Amino acid sequence: MADTAVTMDKIVSLAKRRGFVFQSSEIYGGLSGAWDYGPQGIELKNRIARFWWKEMTQLHDNIVGIDAAILMHPKVWHASGHVENFTDPLVDCKKCKARFRADQIPPEDLAAKKCPECGGELTEVRKFNLMFKTTLGPVEDESGLVYLRPETAQGIYVNFKNVQQSNRMKIPFGIAQIGKAFRNEIVTKNFIFRTCEFEQMEMQFFVKPGTDAEWFEYWREQRWNYYKKLGIDMKKLRWHRHGPDELAHYAKDAYDIEFEFPMGFKELEGVHNRSDYDLSRHQQFSGKDMQYIDQDNGNERYIPNIIETSAGLTRQLLMLLCDAYEEQKVADKGNEDDWRTVMHFHPELAPITVAVLPLMKKDGLAELAQDIRAELKEDFVTDYDQSGAIGRRYRRQDEVGTPFCVTIDYQTKEDGTVTVRDRDSMLQERLPRARIAEYIRQKIKEYKRPSAGL
Ligand code: GAP
Repeated sequence: MADTAVTMDKIVSLAKRRGFVFQSSEIYGGLSGAWDYGPQGIELKNRIARFWWKEMTQLHDNIVGIDAAILMHPKVWHASGHVENFTDPLVDCKKCKARFRADQIPPEDLAAKKCPECGGELTEVRKFNLMFKTTLGPVEDESGLVYLRPETAQGIYVNFKNVQQSNRMKIPFGIAQIGKAFRNEIVTKNFIFRTCEFEQMEMQFFVKPGTDAEWFEYWREQRWNYYKKLGIDMKKLRWHRHGPDELAHYAKDAYDIEFEFPMGFKELEGVHNRSDYDLSRHQQFSGKDMQYIDQDNGNERYIPNIIETSAGLTRQLLMLLCDAYEEQKVADKGNEDDWRTVMHFHPELAPITVAVLPLMKKDGLAELAQDIRAELKEDFVTDYDQSGAIGRRYRRQDEVGTPFCVTIDYQTKEDGTVTVRDRDSMLQERLPRARIAEYIRQKIKEYKRPSAGL
């Protein structure tokens, strides 16, 4: 029996082979903690972002978006508490020079000050700030010191009043943002799970103090349901509530949604009750009034509480790669047993929606297929492939998760019909070419995650 377990090695290999994710600066030996997204990777990433954006803004009447700068005034990070608190405890081995997070090595090794890898002597634990620093302007001194943002959230908080007033938002309301964040992570193993440069999809929801616990529950439920819509195997998700020693410096209460990656259950997204911490601190540090004036309620003034939903875009992409991956035994047309690797992405997320394949290059089939592709590409991301046996071409599309393959054969020439092959069931249906687009749209709407074999 072949071992069909999903491992990180298999995911990394498929990601490279099929153009999802490449190592950054690979020809120079790579850069740890940084990755590049290839043709399929960027399509998938864009589609996840669009799915999240629609869910959070279009489907909620009271949530709007922004796109704040990565570089912000350095005082922001004093007010937010990141300069003081956004640290990891770090130890180095004096002998083999390996570096560890003190909270991630066995306590007995830490107590004995012996390196878990070579047994050498460890340094004292010291605090290491995760924020990247750079300088703004031509002089490289402290006066130009700025940070690369370690979370997108602060760009929303400092714009709270701008957005509220320009768009006449009434509490409760939310602001959503997708963008890059940077952390000088000490440990960056497990592919794109934890990287130094990554993308977040965050939404900050401003509520009246006293209603925060209720909204916190509301957003926990909303975020759980989002993953159902994404078509994830819900058995691989679970909640983890932060204990008092796990809570971030800003959090009053926090839950993670965890996903079962090949290396075990790990954080996917956080839902945080940040109380009035952030806006109070910005009021204190900037001297600007961050209160909301409730005109419907006798001009009552208060500093809103914030419920945050914070998801990693690049981490969600890794989740989708792991969740979609399946090695499946299939019987080929010639009755020979065969294996395929198939990515069961939700068809709305798949990098390529439809591949157009002429059965043969000759006899005008290639030209006919190109013609049909031209009709479809206005509505869908398409691919065209005329090389190799048709079975092998289906396998290539399965590996990138293309949900529909349209095959053009001799009958197409006669009566204008094509076959459409379904990625998951591998069943084929014959239909007139004029109906392909409508058929695909309908199938996407009706999509249900296949249960067999997954
Ligand atoms: N604004 C709150 C915040 O940033 P977080 O728990 O530190 O909270 C939220 O991060 C999410 O961002 C995580 O659940 C994860 O999906 C993603 N994330 C955080 N650090 C990451 C890293 N180094 N690489 C990839 N994704 C990361």
